[in-house]
Amino acid sequence: MVLTFFVGGNWKMNGDKKSLGDLITTLNTASLNDETEVVCGAPTVYLDFARSNLDARIGVAAQNCYKVAKGAFTGEISPVMIKDCGVEWVILGHSERRHVFGESDELIGQKVAHALESGLGVIACIGEKLEEREAGTTEEVVYAQTQAIADNVKDWSKVVLAYEPVWAIGTGKTASPEQAQEVHEKLREWMRANVSEVVADSVRIIYGGSVTGANCKELGSQNDVDGFLVGGASLKPEFVDIINARA
Ligand code: PGA
Repeated sequence: MVLTFFVGGNWKMNGDKKSLGDLITTLNTASLNDETEVVCGAPTVYLDFARSNLDARIGVAAQNCYKVAKGAFTGEISPVMIKDCGVEWVILGHSERRHVFGESDELIGQKVAHALESGLGVIACIGEKLEEREAGTTEEVVYAQTQAIADNVKDWSKVVLAYEPVWAIGTGKTASPEQAQEVHEKLREWMRANVSEVVADSVRIIYGGSVTGANCKELGSQNDVDGFLVGGASLKPEFVDIINARA
C-alpha cells in the first residue's frame, strides 16, 4: 500500500527570524509535490512565527513538550500551548532528547499519551546507537522503544514513527537504503504482531539521519520508507528536493 509520503524538517536549535523567514519564503514559493505531507519542526520561541508565516499547506511541529497541560514546570511547554499557536504536531523522543537530555522511554511514553489526548499529531522517534548496532541489538532496542510508545497510543492515525539511527544523525553517515528498508520492514512486522494489521499497513514509518537532496530519492524508493525526518538539510533550499523525492 502506498501511504501519503511524510517529510518533516527538524530545525533543532537553529536559525533566527531572518534566516528562518528566508527559508519560509523559499518553502512558500517552491513547487512542492502536493501528494507529500510536509511539517517543519520549529524552535519553541519561533512556533508562532513559523505558523503565522508558513503557507497553510505546510504543517508546523514543536520539537518537544511536557506530559501535562499546565503547572509549575519551569521551562516546559504543553500541547495545549502548542495548539494555541495553531501548531498541529510535536516531535517526541528525538535522540537528542533521549541522549543529551536523558529522557527515558517511560517519560517519552507519557508525553506521547498526553500529546495525543490533547489532539496533537506525534512524530515519535526511535533509533539505536552505534554500539548497539555493532553489538547486534538494533532490533531489540527499536522494538523496546516502539513498545514504550505503542503502550501509550490509542489512535495511530495521528502518529508517524521516525526511525533515526543515532549514528546517522548529523554525521553525514546515512543508513544505506537497504539498512533503512531492513529496519522499517521489521518495524512494520512488529506492528503487525503487536498492534494490528490495520496499523501495520497504515502507519507511516519515516527515516531520519543525514538525509540530503542527493540520497533522498533512493532512500524514498524503498518499500517501507514512507518519508523522512530531516535535520541539517531542512534548513537549506535542498529541503524542497527532499519534499519532492517521490515526484
Ligand atoms: P540530520 O538530523 O538530518 O541532520 O542527520 C536528523 C534528525 O535529527 O532528525
